[in-house]
Amino acid sequence: MQPAPQTPDQCEASTEQIGWEALRARVATCTACELSRSRTQTVFGVGDPGARLVIVGEAPGAEEDRQGEPFVGPAGRLLDEMLRAIGLSREQVYICNILKCLTHNNADPTPAQAAACRPLLARQIALINPQLILAVGRVAAQNLLQVTTPLSRLRGQIHHFATVDRGASLPVWVTYHPAYLLRSPQEKARAWEDLKAVRGLLKRPSP
Ligand code: URA
Repeated sequence: MQPAPQTPDQCEASTEQIGWEALRARVATCTACELSRSRTQTVFGVGDPGARLVIVGEAPGAEEDRQGEPFVGPAGRLLDEMLRAIGLSREQVYICNILKCLTHNNADPTPAQAAACRPLLARQIALINPQLILAVGRVAAQNLLQVTTPLSRLRGQIHHFATVDRGASLPVWVTYHPAYLLRSPQEKARAWEDLKAVRGLLKRPSP
């Protein structure tokens, strides 16, 4: 039996070709960073692996860590409502996070944690091969796009996520994190603008 990959580079090399179930198993047993020692379980993702839209959040919270599913708390309920507003259900999209494990005290992912998880997320997105990725919140957007630009400047335009193995570049839209919208409901009107843009982008024929 081969030893589990330990560094992000080793992980990237070995995840590039694997299929969905092998990826799921790789995530479940991942020890690429120290968060593997404190998690209850990994949170792989939920929804349709053939979805046209992938939602990328930050990292599982305590409830997600307990249930093994992303966005199951109050923020998740708002995310469901946001999706419903553009005619989509949780089952019709795919929802995952930058990190597959709960961080200590819900801290933002460190660069090392994000780098350790990135090959797994990249492979997951490549396998889904969606028409559009929606990054929710600053942490998700900055990590996905590997930039430090503030969220306010990332909104309102198409960005690109390059998939390693397919050589493709998938469009990315950025909006507020639903947890932020719960704290700042005055921003919901702007979030609605983002959602309408997502609806429009999904109507475009796939290239
Ligand atoms: N916040 C996130 O970014 N992801 C989750 O899965 C839950 C809350």
